[in-house]
Amino acid sequence: MTGPEILEWLRTRRSVRTFSAEPVARDVLVRVLEGAITAPSSTNRQPWRFAVVRSPSARAKIVTAVAQRTAEMKAIIARSHHAEDFGDYGDFFHEPLAAAQVIVIPQYREYPDLIANLIASGGGDPAQFSTASAMQAELVSASAAIMMLLVQAHAEGLGACMMAGPMVARDDIHALLGIEPPWRMVGAIALGHPTGAAPARGRKPLDRVVHWIEDEETKQ
Ligand SMILES: Cc1cc2nc3c(=O)[nH]c(=O)nc-3n(C[C@H](O)[C@H](O)[C@H](O)COP(=O)(O)O)c2cc1C
Repeated sequence: MTGPEILEWLRTRRSVRTFSAEPVARDVLVRVLEGAITAPSSTNRQPWRFAVVRSPSARAKIVTAVAQRTAEMKAIIARSHHAEDFGDYGDFFHEPLAAAQVIVIPQYREYPDLIANLIASGGGDPAQFSTASAMQAELVSASAAIMMLLVQAHAEGLGACMMAGPMVARDDIHALLGIEPPWRMVGAIALGHPTGAAPARGRKPLDRVVHWIEDEETKQ
């Protein structure tokens, strides 16, 4: 595919929140995960892991935990002065998961900041420099892997939705899946065969998000 063709194809990716009951074949899932781990990572440490929850009973436990925690949160927010701002928003925390045939829980772990340690061992103060930990390099690396997973899922004709909402039940999900330090979940991904076309969400135009730094020569 050419660059313009790939761009057009990337624009067809959507966050998909409704799925059919058709199971996702294991070999397809393996390719989706192989796609994820093509991502770049800080010092190539690949600080990611993925729990791939296919078992209906395990999925149901995750959905129940997220729905319960969301209900608790909603009850608190209902007492606030801005309850109407939240509205039905909490439904987006668990509904896509409830319909998904597969729930992927991406995780990341931190590593000691090598450069900061070298600065310290040379008698310097690491706080004087912005090193990898200043940009949460491992979390950024895991985010890159999540994006590659979404792209490969799209290429496979699957629907997927990256979700921060399930974080409300982080401790429950950690316990259910045996996720222990140093690992930490980074949201959840709902995955399955899509039902119907998801609506396209707009993007800010490029001139609002890009700041070109160039001179006459490099403008060509
Ligand atoms: C970090 C992150 C968290 C998100 N959390 C949720 C979520 O909890 N529930 C949900 O339905 N969608 C969630 N989304 C999906 C966004 O709503 C979606 O990407 C955005 O509206 C743009 O739509 P598009 O992906 O179809 O282009 C999340 C996306 C990202 C990247």
